Amino acid sequence: RVLSGRPADLAGRHLVISAGGTREAIDPVRFIGNRSSGLQGYALARTAVARGAEVTLVSANVALPDPAGATVVRVESAAELRAAVLDAVEGADAVVMAAAVADFRPLAQSGSKIKKTSAEPDPIHLVKNPDILAELGDRRREGLKPYPPVIVGFAAETDDVLANGQAKLARKGCDLLVVNQVGAGLAFGTPDNAAVVLVAGGEPVEIPRGPKEDLADMVWDLVAHRLR
Ligand code: CTP
Ligand code: CA
Repeated sequence: RVLSGRPADLAGRHLVISAGGTREAIDPVRFIGNRSSGLQGYALARTAVARGAEVTLVSANVALPDPAGATVVRVESAAELRAAVLDAVEGADAVVMAAAVADFRPLAQSGSKIKKTSAEPDPIHLVKNPDILAELGDRRREGLKPYPPVIVGFAAETDDVLANGQAKLARKGCDLLVVNQVGAGLAFGTPDNAAVVLVAGGEPVEIPRGPKEDLADMVWDLVAHRLR
């Protein structure tokens, strides 16, 4: 897609984007993961670069070419993603958490490959991962640096999309929450997306089904507005 013809309205801004999905190791060869392709996060990175921004892309397990002009930091687990995002947001203007972060990880990782025996396998005990988006919101509320001035989350909801989304926006303390409608061949791994952007202290913005780059541009319009 042609990325020219965009305003340079993000020039001088440093934007941090997380993309893809984290992997939580069970043993050296196995992990708990999710279906995020990274397409939406990469579209956000390309469009931000095209609008003049300095972009740090924290990329978790994505099989896509590096967006030209962006600094790409590769991570695997939620813990690595958290460390990379906290490092990158120092001095940044906005963060967009497009990555699918695993909510849980195995309590213990086996140092060697778990072998099949005649017995039934042990259950995998899970523990909660840190909520990176909520942590950024908490830091901002408490004035605890580093935190960026504008914080954007993503959410995929299947039921009660608006009600669940509004509750999540408040819980996470973010400025914008992009709520994807999952199902009907949308969202995971597809070039198109349909969404509603929930705005803290404002009216929701409906984004019709279309290319992920169009959704990305609408998100940057809203971010640019909040940065002004
Ligand atoms: N997120 C995060 N850290 C986590 C989980 C989620 O930063 N441990 C971020 C995601 O990157 C996304 C937003 O929070 O921007 C919403 O993720 P979602 O999974 O929809 O929210 P959860 O609070 O995990 O709620 P749910 O029970 O619906 O999974
Ligand atoms: Ca989750």
